[in-house]
Amino acid sequence: MRKKIVAGNWKMNTLPAEGVELARGVAAGRGEVNSDVTLIVCPPFTHLAGVIESLNGANVEVGAQDCATEAKGAYTGEVSAAMIAALGCKYVILGHSERRQYYGECSETLNKKMEQAYANNLTPIYCVGENLEEREAERHFEVCKQQLEEVVFNLTDAQFKNLVIAYEPVWAIGTGKTATAEQAQEIHAYIREVLRSKFGAAAEECPILYGGSCKPSNAGEIFAKADVDGGLIGGAALKADDFLAIGKSFE
Ligand code: PGA
Repeated sequence: MRKKIVAGNWKMNTLPAEGVELARGVAAGRGEVNSDVTLIVCPPFTHLAGVIESLNGANVEVGAQDCATEAKGAYTGEVSAAMIAALGCKYVILGHSERRQYYGECSETLNKKMEQAYANNLTPIYCVGENLEEREAERHFEVCKQQLEEVVFNLTDAQFKNLVIAYEPVWAIGTGKTATAEQAQEIHAYIREVLRSKFGAAAEECPILYGGSCKPSNAGEIFAKADVDGGLIGGAALKADDFLAIGKSFE
């Protein structure tokens, strides 16, 4: 059985005290979500310590939204994987389309970040997905394959066992336009096939999350698909009730 995961990507939202409130709300409702569903919140760096403290004992995991390419040193403004791991983070989102698009993150950068994540026992949530132009040109399979080949294919078998993939079509992120459950299943199955070509049977165990305008009203239908193992949630993760409702959407 693959792990079921609902991860909240808070992006650059909430002030630290608001983040702690949101985390407390998630913790308060954790018991309503099946215990076989892993809930992860990914607040901004500045909130991590407070959020982790407030979640003490709540069975809600914490991830960061990014980490540095280097281990330490003269890299003004950067936050290392070791720093976030030391706080108690277990996960780190890498390769989110907003990082690729606005901060020029390329596979070379992401390979270094993945290396840092694994060196510090963090599980990467590695994001792939095509933009609207690529989808319209029917290049979405090719784009996702390349994003996997250039980064995930460099992992060892042991590292691959500790990886979460998030498929997030850029045209669905924050737009209110969701991929249909059929579109999600089609590409998730394809992603798994690409992973199988490199890592064999271990690909069956790799959680592949859907992201992009996922909300309580559509999560159930999407999560019911065979190769969809949960979601990476942006906007709807900013309300504890919505986030928890998504956590309850598995069949
Ligand atoms: P959204 O964002 O749910 O607001 O579309 C998802 C994401 O970017 O992770």
